[in-house]
Amino acid sequence: MAIYRVLILSAFLALLVFSSLSPARSEESGADVVEESAVLTLDASNFSETVAKYPFILVEFYASWSKRCETFAPVYEKAAAILRKHDPPVVLAKVDGDDETNKEIASKYDVTSFPTLIILRNQGKNIQEYDGPIEAEGKIVEYLKKQAGPASVEIKSSEDVGTLIEGKKIFIVAVFPDYSRGEFKNFIAVAEKLRADYDFGHTLDAKHLPHGDLTVSGPVVRLFKPFDELFVDFQDFHVDALEDFIKTASVPKVTILDRDPRKRPFVIKFFDLPDAKAMLFLNFGNEDFDAFKSKYYEVAEHYEGKNISFLIADLNATKRAFEDGSLTPFKKAEPIPEVNNEPVKVVVADSLNDMVFESGKNVLLEFYIPWCGFCKELKPILEEVAVSFQNDDDVVIAKMDGSKNDIPHELNVLGYPTIYFSSASGKLVRYEGLRTKGDFIDFIRQNKDAIIQDATVQKDTTVESESLKDEL
Ligand SMILES: *[C@@H]1O[C@H](CO)[C@@H](O)[C@H](O)[C@H]1NC(C)=O
Ligand SMILES: *[C@@H]1O[C@H](CO)[C@@H](O)[C@H](O)[C@H]1NC(C)=O
Ligand SMILES: *[C@@H]1O[C@H](CO)[C@@H](O)[C@H](O)[C@H]1NC(C)=O
Repeated sequence: MAIYRVLILSAFLALLVFSSLSPARSEESGADVVEESAVLTLDASNFSETVAKYPFILVEFYASWSKRCETFAPVYEKAAAILRKHDPPVVLAKVDGDDETNKEIASKYDVTSFPTLIILRNQGKNIQEYDGPIEAEGKIVEYLKKQAGPASVEIKSSEDVGTLIEGKKIFIVAVFPDYSRGEFKNFIAVAEKLRADYDFGHTLDAKHLPHGDLTVSGPVVRLFKPFDELFVDFQDFHVDALEDFIKTASVPKVTILDRDPRKRPFVIKFFDLPDAKAMLFLNFGNEDFDAFKSKYYEVAEHYEGKNISFLIADLNATKRAFEDGSLTPFKKAEPIPEVNNEPVKVVVADSLNDMVFESGKNVLLEFYIPWCGFCKELKPILEEVAVSFQNDDDVVIAKMDGSKNDIPHELNVLGYPTIYFSSASGKLVRYEGLRTKGDFIDFIRQNKDAIIQDATVQKDTTVESESLKDEL
């Protein structure tokens, strides 16, 4: 009996030693934990090989300090969990786009803000920006299912058409006598290429369609539009001709910019056209509006085919369109100053990264606007602070004019002055202390890091910087 006990004990000990010493085991259990997330985590080491595995993958580029990414994360996770069971597979992944090692991937996909979502199809060969909803997992799932499905859906009944052609979008339907022809192949090829911008369908029976000659047997392409003549037919099935037709026929005679978000895609297209542009801004509520509008349409008709695009905009709506981000406004940025030798350095939109976040220095940065009273009060104080650090090359006091330079959303600057401190190792904290010379100096002394000499220092402080960034 005693022998047995010893044997059992030593076997048990061996097991303990094995499990605690074996690195393979502990790594395995670490991977198990990660796998519980339905969202794949990718980085530079495995991005390409993972993307190459899937016909359809959505990649989120996020930054750990971004509040919007933080809010989005649980929604994305839920969507991924639902879509994991979808057939064919719809894979959701994420990449820390702010991490130094992933910068190359982020720049390949032109990521300039977080979160940015990119759809990669066909083993990563086709790239499409995700412009669907991001506020609720149900909507994301619905959008992605459609994106992952066929580029053109078959219309078998008038009911199919009812839900597909809702009257506010461009919808392109081709009628065929059968699906075995070259025309059908070309049509599908064009649908694949333009699927991000338009909706496509095909049918064997024109009588399911809402307008136009319902007796045609095809092949014919009918483009439905929510404006002007409401539909156009086209019969040339060469890929290039078809593509040109769709692009031209889907531009309204006069593009309307008002409060209706469903009109935004047309506005974006208007600005993308290489044509000369005529734009009329007026108040749609004004009593003269109808008279102006019909004259304007006449002018537009007069110039049809002359490479001039026309837009009419509701003054009330234009401001909001730019605010909610559906239109890209011109980036506000002052030129980088040639001389910058005052104690408080001038930072502009285009020098923000170089002079602050990636400078490797400890920078106290004030966002101000010229007409703000508190900013005026702060000006001489910051100058004194700057002077007192003038002999310390590691510390920079800087300011940026928020009325002339766009400030990254992530900094969440909602009022002026807003003051941030970015340490040499990249820690970023909002300054919430008293605005006296003494308080600033104490704060900087306590929070500044030694100047970065090599990459090892940077690595060691990453974790800490992440948790501080979270406080933003
Ligand atoms: C990619 O590599 C990272 C570590 O570099 C790992 O955390 C992640 O799980 C990997 N993802 C996949 C899908 O293999
Ligand atoms: C335009 O906006 C102003 C202020 O918000 C409002 O009073 C006015 O009714 C709006 N006009 C129209 C036509 O919507
Ligand atoms: C309009 O633009 C197209 C393509 O850029 C060009 O071929 C055509 O000659 C232009 N037409 C006029 C009237 O300028």
